[in-house]
Amino acid sequence: MSSPSRSGAFDSAVDKRVERFTESISFDARLFRHDIAGSIAHASMLADQGILTADERDQIESNLTDIQKEIEAGTFPIREELEDIHMNIEQALIDRIGDIGRKLHTGRSRNDQVSTDLRLWVRDAIDQIDELLANLQRAYLSRCDKDTGVIIPAYTHLQRAQPVLANHVWLAYVEKFARDRQRLADCRKRVNLCSLGTAALAGTTLNIDRQNSAKRLGFDGIVANSIDSSSDRDFVLETLFCLANIGIHLSTWAEEWIMWATVEYDFIKLPHEFCTGSSIMPQKINPDVLELTRGKSARLIGSLQTLLVLTKGLPLAYNRDLQEDKPPLFDAVDTVKACLELAAPLVAGADLKVDSINSRIEKGFLDATTLMEYLVKRGMPQRSAHHSIGELVRLATSKSVTLAELSLEDFQAVDADLDKSVYDVLGVKNAVKAFQSEGSTNPDRVHQQITIWKDRLN
Ligand code: ARG
Repeated sequence: MSSPSRSGAFDSAVDKRVERFTESISFDARLFRHDIAGSIAHASMLADQGILTADERDQIESNLTDIQKEIEAGTFPIREELEDIHMNIEQALIDRIGDIGRKLHTGRSRNDQVSTDLRLWVRDAIDQIDELLANLQRAYLSRCDKDTGVIIPAYTHLQRAQPVLANHVWLAYVEKFARDRQRLADCRKRVNLCSLGTAALAGTTLNIDRQNSAKRLGFDGIVANSIDSSSDRDFVLETLFCLANIGIHLSTWAEEWIMWATVEYDFIKLPHEFCTGSSIMPQKINPDVLELTRGKSARLIGSLQTLLVLTKGLPLAYNRDLQEDKPPLFDAVDTVKACLELAAPLVAGADLKVDSINSRIEKGFLDATTLMEYLVKRGMPQRSAHHSIGELVRLATSKSVTLAELSLEDFQAVDADLDKSVYDVLGVKNAVKAFQSEGSTNPDRVHQQITIWKDRLN
């Protein structure tokens, strides 16, 4: 039998090759739960409006529920010639209850049906990803308990810059993922609007109640304009941006830990359950999960790019191009979830190699800026202090010593009034404590932030 969308206007059956080219069932079958929920809400609204009888609604609902169970059990025969999940389900309903099934599509088009199903699906995806992001934030916070007091070098240009608490770095990621959650929550407001009843593009002449079906599906409201609704996929686009941004944040973390796990850094031991070996080099313990997390961010950016190009220049309203929105969306959601599911236990399970970090922490003049600000506090103009400390760094380098190992006379060459208190800001421990500003790595500030985040996340 041919598809329910082929009306009497056609004088021939569809070419098999066209059928294969135009199908979307191979990737949209996963929308079945949302499609059935949407159809039940639509039928219930039609019954409330007197367009269907209560009995018709009940038959539609119970048969759709059966179909859902069969799809879940894997016993439902999927037919490619029916193009997509929407028509597979509708045809099965018609096969079971005949004319009553043929009434389900009253006041509806696949354009608003697909858009509604997708909005429901994206809403669920956002909620699941939000929970995974919260878990990842908790994993970073759990590190804060075991890494209290550990100081690590922070870098700019990948050159040693200033000493920071490891916990300050963990909180940096907590903040990044907090913004990712905020972005998703904001995006969800625009996702969570119902397209049902906008029909093909102009609405319908039937006396439907769009607010009714929207409420039944838990939407916050309806998409106001039917032409806008029929043509729009910007809710997918912005979801993909949010996911790409999560991917970028994950890739920064992954790259950092890949480096930290090298012999050259030797900052971290990754849990071996999250590492892989080499088929030829017996000593290798490779950070493949981190590398793939870094690599998969490319797919997320690619999906966003696909949607941008797909929707650019499309005329109003619905165009079949829009069917191509689903593979990149589904792939991006699957990819982000897979990355986040592994990221949280990996973050929680790694161990900082504190002895190794400490053995080199005084290298690289991490306390130079603190020393400069010590001079500034004593009244020296910042630019002059910057220059003078540069000279001291040069001197220390030539003597192969740290700043703390220079003599008082060396310091007095810069400022004759300097006394022994200069040593109070030298060395990474003193330097970290000397920070004061809000948001800095000062231990009290960091502790306060940990408390705030523990409160928020528990
Ligand atoms: N299979 C299509 C999709 O999932 C359905 C499009 C229906 N609209 C249409 N005017 N052909 O996007």
